[in-house]
Amino acid sequence: MSKPIRIALTKGRLEKDTVGLLEKLGFDCTAVREKGRKLILPVPDANLEVVLAKANDVITYVEHGVCDMGVVGKDTIMEMKGKFFELVDLGFGRCKFALATKKGYDFYSGYGIKTIATKYPNVARSFFEKKGMDTEIIKIEGSVELAPLLELADGIVDIVETGTTLKENGLEVIEDVAPISARLIVNTVSLKLRQAEIESLIEKIQANL
Ligand code: PRP
Repeated sequence: MSKPIRIALTKGRLEKDTVGLLEKLGFDCTAVREKGRKLILPVPDANLEVVLAKANDVITYVEHGVCDMGVVGKDTIMEMKGKFFELVDLGFGRCKFALATKKGYDFYSGYGIKTIATKYPNVARSFFEKKGMDTEIIKIEGSVELAPLLELADGIVDIVETGTTLKENGLEVIEDVAPISARLIVNTVSLKLRQAEIESLIEKIQANL
């Protein structure tokens, strides 16, 4: 058998959903389910090798060709960009990017430059550039909802899934920025060199979504 196709999965929920999908395809994912602290696991009957990584690193490994494929959120793809093929919308990991402010705040009034806090500065910048609106973007590492509460920012561009975090902190969505879901990405060279294997896997995946 040829060497396994390496697929990088974003650790956490996308990893679990992807393993569920591979099992639906009939592949035995016992090694991944019982991984302990191991980071590279075989799925032998699919001739796959699963690599577990943080979202940004999934893109880095696929871009550099050390992983042939990856499963990563559209949020990370929009923020990092990069050179790879984005071939399948896997449909899980659904949420959205949204602009949110303190409840009742009139974000679009006044002439002063607005300040936006976000973990995704490139996404926020391109959203406001498309509007022709000058903003100051401040990068925050997590719990971005704090920034308007502490009056560091007028608004945030962040991921909203259920809306609970916003609600419980007195914030509200004032505009959707972009829908998000998990995507299957493929290294450009791998797709050429292992086209038949990769396409056959993608066909199976698409038939089971
Ligand atoms: C994400 C996001 C929001 C929250 C949204 O944060 O940044 O804070 O989830 O989910 P909800 O709409 O269902 O409440 P995450 O849990 O990844 O933590 P972080 O903000 O510390 O990165």
